[in-house]
Amino acid sequence: MNEHYQSVTAYFAEKAEAYDDVDQQLYWVFSDRFYREVLRRELAPILDGKREIRLLDAGAGTGRWTVAFDALFGGQSGVSGTLVDISPDMLAVAERKVQAPPHAGRFRCQVGNIESMPEVPDASFDVCLSFYNVLSFVEHPERALREIRAKLAPGGVHAAVLGNTYHALYFSLLTGRRAELERVDKESMIRFNDVMPSMRCYTLRQLEELYLAAGFTNVKVLGGPNFLYPGMEETFVHGATERLQSDLGDRAAMDRLLEIELAHYADPGVVGRGNTLLVLARA
Ligand SMILES: C[S@@+](CC[C@H](N)C(=O)[O-])C[C@H]1O[C@@H](n2cnc3c(N)ncnc32)[C@H](O)[C@@H]1O
Repeated sequence: MNEHYQSVTAYFAEKAEAYDDVDQQLYWVFSDRFYREVLRRELAPILDGKREIRLLDAGAGTGRWTVAFDALFGGQSGVSGTLVDISPDMLAVAERKVQAPPHAGRFRCQVGNIESMPEVPDASFDVCLSFYNVLSFVEHPERALREIRAKLAPGGVHAAVLGNTYHALYFSLLTGRRAELERVDKESMIRFNDVMPSMRCYTLRQLEELYLAAGFTNVKVLGGPNFLYPGMEETFVHGATERLQSDLGDRAAMDRLLEIELAHYADPGVVGRGNTLLVLARA
């Protein structure tokens, strides 16, 4: 494993056991609720009527989005699939989850680099998810995208959430990290805090070009959350900035903000403002 992936796997090895504590962190609860609802709205028209959905979770981490996807679409269809991650520690947590009811027997976990997945059969998945910055940590995103496209059945869809350059510029200024501002501007790379590895960030146009070059069609870029911005505390698994505690502290306040986010996320005019970008592309 090269130096880049040694630093990625070392970072996630240390985070793995406590990673799912993000499920208690207000900002990430909000962001997950936002993206679950966006996934439901965007994928339902594509998946409606399918009796079987084959899912590839590429950069599955602890399996949070396999579990979320199963909850969203498993009611009307049989969901099964493969989870791939380069971090054995993150994937060990995922394995415990998918081996337990109600997922048991339907998913298999494979440690590996999504830039090359020889053990995963070609043209055999309806949906591939790469949520929360997987493609921002990948060393060669263009290779990973070509590989993902090869694993999708014709017409299959890739849904990826990744770092947004315009948010990275804003965040660097907000948190007084001028050196990072320069790195985003010059290299499209950022460290949101001092302990995490560098992450690549993208603009809408770069993503469109990257996906089209990898052979995808119908590339649609959305983003979010667009109005509720995280602070430094939210880049760690624990903690919350004071402002967010008061914005999201009770369920009614969170529900109302979510309603506002969902009313606007599909407007092409708002894309670029998002804390993260969501790409939906067809193989
Ligand atoms: C921020 S985590 C997100 C995990 C999960 N998708 C989620 O949303 O909870 C990013 C994950 O990408 C994985 N990753 C980074 N580069 C990878 C690569 N080249 N191949 C496979 N996994 C990779 C990391 O090990 C880590 O588990």
